[in-house]
Amino acid sequence: MLAVGIIGGAGYTGAELLRLLAMHDQVDVKIITSREYAGIAVGQVHGHLAGYYQQTFVHPEENLFKNLDLVFFATPHGVSMNLVPALLEQNVRVIDLSADYRLRDSELWKKWYGGVHTSEHLLNKAVYGLPELNRDELLDARLVACPGCYPTAVQLGFAPLLTEGLIDFSNLIASAASGTSGAGRKASLSNNFSEIGENFKSYGVSGHRHLPEIEQELSKIAGQDVKVTFVPHLVPMVRGIQATLFASLKRNAINLQSIFDQFYQSEKFIEILPRGVYPQTRNVRGSNIVQISIERPDDGDTVVVMVVEDNLVKGASGQAIQCMNIIYGFPEDAGLDILGLNP
Ligand SMILES: NC(=O)c1ccc[n+]([C@@H]2O[C@H](COP(=O)([O-])OP(=O)(O)OC[C@H]3O[C@@H](n4cnc5c(N)ncnc54)[C@H](OP(=O)(O)O)[C@@H]3O)[C@@H](O)[C@H]2O)c1
Repeated sequence: MLAVGIIGGAGYTGAELLRLLAMHDQVDVKIITSREYAGIAVGQVHGHLAGYYQQTFVHPEENLFKNLDLVFFATPHGVSMNLVPALLEQNVRVIDLSADYRLRDSELWKKWYGGVHTSEHLLNKAVYGLPELNRDELLDARLVACPGCYPTAVQLGFAPLLTEGLIDFSNLIASAASGTSGAGRKASLSNNFSEIGENFKSYGVSGHRHLPEIEQELSKIAGQDVKVTFVPHLVPMVRGIQATLFASLKRNAINLQSIFDQFYQSEKFIEILPRGVYPQTRNVRGSNIVQISIERPDDGDTVVVMVVEDNLVKGASGQAIQCMNIIYGFPEDAGLDILGLNP
């Protein structure tokens, strides 16, 4: 059995790791941390997990983790970068759900996240954990930087078009909407039900922290600089992201449907919908599945790609477990063979 720890177990992605790992028969969750709830039973904080986890939360003391095989960080940015170097030295693998190791350039980190990166020497060693686009690199990864929730949807939607060189790289547009769990469990005025209910709004239009990550990874796929206009929105639902992507086609006589079908033909978690069938977030709620639909309005030269995912599963904890499965040679869908919850 793989001995794992979760730092940040009281939050939303921590809870989702615990829910999914409860269905994984090769993993034993040994340590679950929370500073606020240290000493309190996990099931008291996450009622839906009460029957599966008998442990209490513990304070994240550094020497707790040295006998583990793997530690997941489900913490805000700025936490893992201080603890990861010691864990790697102790031969503990790390899968980080936060942004600490996603950007390759420490100056970019400084610009978008503020402050100095305390372990920037590891930025180029971390493997970006998007299995469908990066599976080979994950095979012997010791430190995985899991993608953000928006970047997962945007990359999976644009990847076939970029790989085939079918679109103008200089002007991609991603308009995306997320449910409120994307902001985490910590209370704030802007997360308050009265502020979010019966409301739909954009935010971070002048620049969102996920933009440099999206451009970095799309540029890697394209082999040249890719520029994106990214407009995130908040939608009054708990889970789910829909990204609607727009790009200008360079060629006309192409069968986009078959290009996407082929690109993802061996991917269990990616479903390309038949033409004219559009994805909905409720189709993938609670599952690691991403649904994608492609349109070309009026057969013109704009391609529209619609992508849905559950931000807490394929956008975070499910993807982290998928990475773990690849690293340890478990079936890639272990703990993740779940359909969406609809209605
Ligand atoms: N929510 C999503 O949809 C989503 C998707 C993709 C990626 N992510 C990323 O995943 C990470 C976790 O997100 P979340 O939504 O689960 O956040 P969350 O609900 O706010 O939970 C964060 C957890 O981190 C712990 N924590 C905070 N500061 C800490 C510190 N200094 N040391 C140790 N533990 C600390 C908190 O518990 P205590 O304060 O009790 O220790 C809490 O359990 C973030 O980096 C987020 O950007 C989130």
